[in-house]
Amino acid sequence: MAKGKVDALLGIVFGDEGKGKVVDYFTPRYDVVARFAGGPNAGHTIIFDGKKFVLRSIPSGIFDEKIINIIGNGCVIAPDLFMAEAHELEAAGYELTERLHISKRAHLILPTHRVLDRAYEAAKGKNKVGTTGKGIGPTYSDKAARVGLRVGDILNDFDTKYQALKARHEQILRDLHYTDYDITEEEKVWLEGVDYMRKFHLTDTEVELNQALLEGKNVLAEGAQGSLLDIDHGTYPYVSSSNTTSGGVCTGLGVAPNKIDRIFGIFKAYSTRVGGGPFPVELFDSVGDTIRHIGNEYGAVTGRNRRCGWLDLVALKYAIMINGVTDLVMMKGDVLDDFNTIKVCTAYTKDGETRTSMPYDTEGWQPVYEELPGWKTPLTALRSEADFPEAFKQYIAYIEQATGTPISIVSVGPDRDATIIR
Ligand code: GDP
Ligand code: IMO
Ligand code: MG
Repeated sequence: MAKGKVDALLGIVFGDEGKGKVVDYFTPRYDVVARFAGGPNAGHTIIFDGKKFVLRSIPSGIFDEKIINIIGNGCVIAPDLFMAEAHELEAAGYELTERLHISKRAHLILPTHRVLDRAYEAAKGKNKVGTTGKGIGPTYSDKAARVGLRVGDILNDFDTKYQALKARHEQILRDLHYTDYDITEEEKVWLEGVDYMRKFHLTDTEVELNQALLEGKNVLAEGAQGSLLDIDHGTYPYVSSSNTTSGGVCTGLGVAPNKIDRIFGIFKAYSTRVGGGPFPVELFDSVGDTIRHIGNEYGAVTGRNRRCGWLDLVALKYAIMINGVTDLVMMKGDVLDDFNTIKVCTAYTKDGETRTSMPYDTEGWQPVYEELPGWKTPLTALRSEADFPEAFKQYIAYIEQATGTPISIVSVGPDRDATIIR
């Protein structure tokens, strides 16, 4: 970590890699932690001292009282959900209003954005994306269409702007014949949330961040979702609606590319995906069920089953390239403790063609696997690399060799303590 620089921690697969845990673990080394993309579609789990929190919009640096946390301009924020999340932290004894700053340029998710999310999904039928239903796509669409409502609007003639955008949404819903909804209660809480947000520093966070960098402070950018859910580089159209990759750090925070130092790419020792879309390594057998069960692979936001499979090196190498990953962070090796052998996908094959690079369309490709020996040893209590079983060391070395990227951090359990720096 260099002074006056931004490091980023990015999920490099389909999300839920363990970003919350590692950001929380890294936080004491930084002065500022900032979210640059996404919104309450994220669910970042942090476990320490027997307590568990799942954060959605609030950065995972919030548990360290010395740190400033920023919700950047690239994010979208739902005032009602934000208020509920903040209340939970306040009830646990954390003061937020001084330490959590929100970009005036971040866009607001309206109750009608959530209705639109449901309406668009319903219209897609079996091709639905399987969104989190949080209104993410419609909110970013309005941003791109230049009609969105921003956090800064809370401070100036808010009601008029809100009513105008809501009316626009209601018209679209009528056009779609999607009229069986009632947001009365939801809207009440949402408007309370808007009022609640006024207590916070609603600021030009890009200026604040650049000032902090000039003063030699260090910033950690916390990714949301994963690289394969990126609107440009993911498995489109089965993606989220923001740039989750490293370019999004610059646009989503207002920091220049030459301010970025290290890029930590976080992945699990196996693969998961929640929602629709192609997933070549998906296991439909008892192995997939075992990984889901032991890995507790159920959505932190929606409770949905996460689809499970072996590690996909084709996807991993693509994400490392797109993001410029300098360091890998491997999570949840402990979930594979009991397997005799462990498979790794090294290529995809379809209609007699085999390839090791990411195809334009990942639909219909079958995985080609290599098998490695399992370690058959519980990893979770281990705190030093020297104690790792030989086969686990081999697994790490294999991935490093295949990707040409060092695995600098290994996590062997959900707790903050179960983290090993190599
Ligand atoms: P995020 O969205 O990337 O922050 O990840 P999630 O919080 O959605 O999902 C990661 C899940 O794995 C959470 O339930 C974590 O508590 C858990 N977890 C994180 N690291 C480890 C690990 O090394 N081993 C195990 N067994 N669980 C982990
Ligand atoms: P974190 O930050 C896993 C998935 C949804 C769906 C697609 C689009 O916790 O890793 P959206 O609601 O964004 O329009 O849904 O993206 N998705 C995630 N999957 N982890 C996430 O966040 C996700 N955020 C969105 O399941 O397939
Ligand atoms: Mg998550």
